[in-house]
Amino acid sequence: MNWSTQVTQMLGVKYPIIQAPMFGVTTPEMVAAAAEAEALGSLALGDLSGAACRAAIQRTKKLVKGPFAVNIFVNSIPEVSDALRGQYAKAKSAVEKLAHQHDIAVDLPEFEDIKLTDYREQVDAILENQCKIVSFTFGNLDPESISRLKAAGTILIGTCTCTEEALILEHSGIDIICVQGWEAGGHRGSFSALDIPQIGGLSLLAQVRDRVKLPLVYAGGIYNATTLLAAKQLGAEGFQIGSLLLRSTESALLDFEKQRLMQVKESDVVLTRSFSGRYARGIKNIFIETMDTSGCILPYPYQNKLTNLLRKAAKIDNNVDFVSIWTGQSIHSYRDCSTREIIRDLVEKVDIFDNTYHER
Ligand SMILES: Cc1cc2nc3c(=O)[nH]c(=O)nc-3n(C[C@H](O)[C@H](O)[C@H](O)COP(=O)(O)O)c2cc1C
Repeated sequence: MNWSTQVTQMLGVKYPIIQAPMFGVTTPEMVAAAAEAEALGSLALGDLSGAACRAAIQRTKKLVKGPFAVNIFVNSIPEVSDALRGQYAKAKSAVEKLAHQHDIAVDLPEFEDIKLTDYREQVDAILENQCKIVSFTFGNLDPESISRLKAAGTILIGTCTCTEEALILEHSGIDIICVQGWEAGGHRGSFSALDIPQIGGLSLLAQVRDRVKLPLVYAGGIYNATTLLAAKQLGAEGFQIGSLLLRSTESALLDFEKQRLMQVKESDVVLTRSFSGRYARGIKNIFIETMDTSGCILPYPYQNKLTNLLRKAAKIDNNVDFVSIWTGQSIHSYRDCSTREIIRDLVEKVDIFDNTYHER
């Protein structure tokens, strides 16, 4: 297949395949392995502080030959109020009670101890380190950050989950749009944290293609040749793969989490606000089932900060019921080889499928 698209030209890679940024799962080694497969790796910076971003970027730069993207969360932060403090106390005691019932020893933070990251400090770190490709999710960058990044020659990739968001990104000068279908694993990239559009990839990609002129990358459910080619047929010029890499050698998931993935059933995959306060797709467990019906989930990012240490403690205990294992709707074999091999194999299978199709 002819892999050359506007996306390959803009990003400087041979294949328009993007290793999805997956905060907590992607590692600098994964980014390097994607680059070795001549695809684009993405370093997920999530809500790391500016200093932590600098360290992660510098470590990645040492490993990766060629271009790679960095990815940040650009959400707004809810205002602190007495009501929020009250909600926090209630949520904290609900989580403490649950942890206690399940013998998890954890000291959850007090409201005053929570430190939130303003993504603008991440933008400073990105600019200082001359990163040339920046993808982002949970909203749009502010105009000043867009102009600072563009002035430095950065390619910007924004995430949309509906046509309206795609149009906002286009009008604000973003270069490439990542269209995230409902199938996708991990957090919904919607601009609003609560009122999220629920549009399946097939409908969304076709509609965004009709209304937006920018090159599109599709994310959500791509796991083999036919799913990639379906996205291509609907107008995508780039293909972002996340869940397909969860069990790769370079994934930061622990063995017990990788094993859980091997047993996942379709009915196990749910959308939940329980861990972070924003909707995310992953594997159902006791924490999700209890919190989602508790009526005391905090707005993002407070819920995320509240549950952070609980997740860490559960990881140490190999406790599958209190960790967040994000994955998408395409249940597959989650191969346990290197990211490089998974991407190369995908490219090869697409080429074979495409050739056979055209010979028919
Ligand atoms: C474990 C996990 C973590 C994720 N973290 C991020 C992230 O940090 N930033 C982001 O833009 N998208 C994130 N996503 C969403 C992916 O970028 C992408 O939209 C999704 O993986 C595509 O669907 P798929 O999982 O079916 O391939 C995450 C997805 C997963 C599975």
